[in-house]
Amino acid sequence: SIHPIVLCGGSGTRLWPLSRKALPKQFAPLIDGKSLLQLTLERLRALNTEVTCIASEDHRFLAQEAMDSAQVTGRQILEPMGRNTAAAMATAVLLADPDELLLFAPADHHIPDAALFAETVRSGVEAALAGNIVTFGVVPTLPSTAYGYIESGAPLPLPTQVARTVLRFVEKPNAEVAQSLLLKGGYFWNAGIFLVQAKVLLDALRTHALDILESCQQAVDHRTTDGSFLRLERQAFENCRSESIDYAVLEKHQQIAVVKFDGAWSDVGSWNAVADLYPADDAGNRLNGKASTMDARNTFIHAPFRPVVALGTDDLIIIDTQDAVLVARRSSVEQVKQVVSMLSDDG
Ligand code: GDD
Ligand code: MG
Repeated sequence: SIHPIVLCGGSGTRLWPLSRKALPKQFAPLIDGKSLLQLTLERLRALNTEVTCIASEDHRFLAQEAMDSAQVTGRQILEPMGRNTAAAMATAVLLADPDELLLFAPADHHIPDAALFAETVRSGVEAALAGNIVTFGVVPTLPSTAYGYIESGAPLPLPTQVARTVLRFVEKPNAEVAQSLLLKGGYFWNAGIFLVQAKVLLDALRTHALDILESCQQAVDHRTTDGSFLRLERQAFENCRSESIDYAVLEKHQQIAVVKFDGAWSDVGSWNAVADLYPADDAGNRLNGKASTMDARNTFIHAPFRPVVALGTDDLIIIDTQDAVLVARRSSVEQVKQVVSMLSDDG
């Protein structure tokens, strides 16, 4: 069986003001009143197993609420502070049986076709059991600098021939490199979902990021357990180097495979990506909640609480929340991250 591990620790600052320190985007109601984490957990229910969430200590009740709403059972590994995905994944690996097949899944993606998702994951099992770190590839549509790029080679010599070898993994290239990879062809975006046997990732971490593994080993050895909460030891975890699994392991590792994911996929990384989840009217407006427009074009309004009206606007994004409002030109919306660091308070 496949053991899903959901990475719930990101901060999602590009979705301010919906995403806040106290309520990062994966926990915030975003689609039909459901959070991305809840939707992720509902999608994983198709795999019929217990789920592990790795979350910040501060967000344990939010994560628990999502697990309860999605009707999944399992446990939470709690981080005293964020140390990025290499550390989070290392702790999960150290707590698993060596032969266990782990599916690492981001908490904040939108993948509407749950059945196709489960089928695609299952089609990667063969390659994972053969000792590969299996990634899932999405066909790129633009030279994004927000994703990892996977250069795929020949199909692996396995019965189904579904998985291909990975020749090169390039994490978040600059715009120029991203453009050249697209032109070259044969590249996928890394969906950020990994299927791997615990012992395989353990070996990879030992080879490429021994210091991270050792800090995490300490944090796991001195853990405390409280019901379904498993707390990592603070000092050891705090000392851990903070790096993403993509830089720490994937860019360096040899035995990586890729399985193409053919369904719709979005990492909901910015307000433009959220807007794309809603159908556009003839003028390109996308509205949710109590939003309306008059004589507006290409305007997205998120208004769950009160009427918000855009009159005569072009290319705007308007986000209304209980205590903060964002109005941005569509082309500037990727810079929200900087706004958050500019604001002295919450963020
Ligand atoms: N538990 C925990 N602890 N989870 C974390 C932490 C942490 O310190 N940091 C990030 N996460 C979670 C996030 O919540 C998200 O669900 C997932 O791990 C990935 O982290 P991101 O920070 O969102 O990564 P990214 O989007 O910049 O890049 C990754 O995903 C892309 C696809 O969305 C990479 O894997 C890219 O290669 C990939 O293309
Ligand atoms: Mg992400």
